[in-house]
Amino acid sequence: MIFTVAIDGPAAAGKGTISKAVAARFGLRHLDTGLLYRAVGARVLAGDDPVTAARNLDPDELDGAALRTQAIADAASRVAVLPEVRAALTDFQRAFARLDGGAVLDGRDICSVICPDADVLLFVTASPEVRAERRYLELAAKGSDVTREGVLADVLARDDRDMNRAEAPLVAAPGATVIDTSELDIGAAVEAASAVVALRL
Ligand code: C5P
Repeated sequence: MIFTVAIDGPAAAGKGTISKAVAARFGLRHLDTGLLYRAVGARVLAGDDPVTAARNLDPDELDGAALRTQAIADAASRVAVLPEVRAALTDFQRAFARLDGGAVLDGRDICSVICPDADVLLFVTASPEVRAERRYLELAAKGSDVTREGVLADVLARDDRDMNRAEAPLVAAPGATVIDTSELDIGAAVEAASAVVALRL
């Protein structure tokens, strides 16, 4: 069975948690495509050329825990504006989407560019303030030295870069079901997404 769930949205809207929960509930594989860009961003912070880093990336060696820092998120959104970087990561994502058994992919351009023909297209969003507060609590719990103002500024800067870049900007793709999680707890957000998936499965 090839069944693809494509989920896009801005940082900290809840798409990661929703993607994992939906994948587990329906027995699908999950790919957090942000990790690909974060891995390239981390290589650039270490001094590598972004395009070379993207072409040589080994997607099986992504260390999610190490890649979830503000500095790497920022570096990821800077390399993500480069068409050659995006092109180097496209085949892997499309191949993952077609793996037998079905898959959930989440990112910024999954509905619009990578898998426009996916069985389910979702756009998960929330207000910048709600997203910044969630990200602040997450980073503070990990012991990161962050402030609320700093995290909000960072979320807004990343939104701006992701939404206004020329190549594959973040948009709610035509036909995508929008889920605004500003006023939903995580359980309700997962139920809303699962209901859309269940209709198509
Ligand atoms: O989702 P996450 O916060 O891990 O993504 C990090 C950055 O990678 C985003 O801000 C965005 O610039 C980029 N990205 C992208 N396309 C994707 C996934 C992530 O441009 N499909």
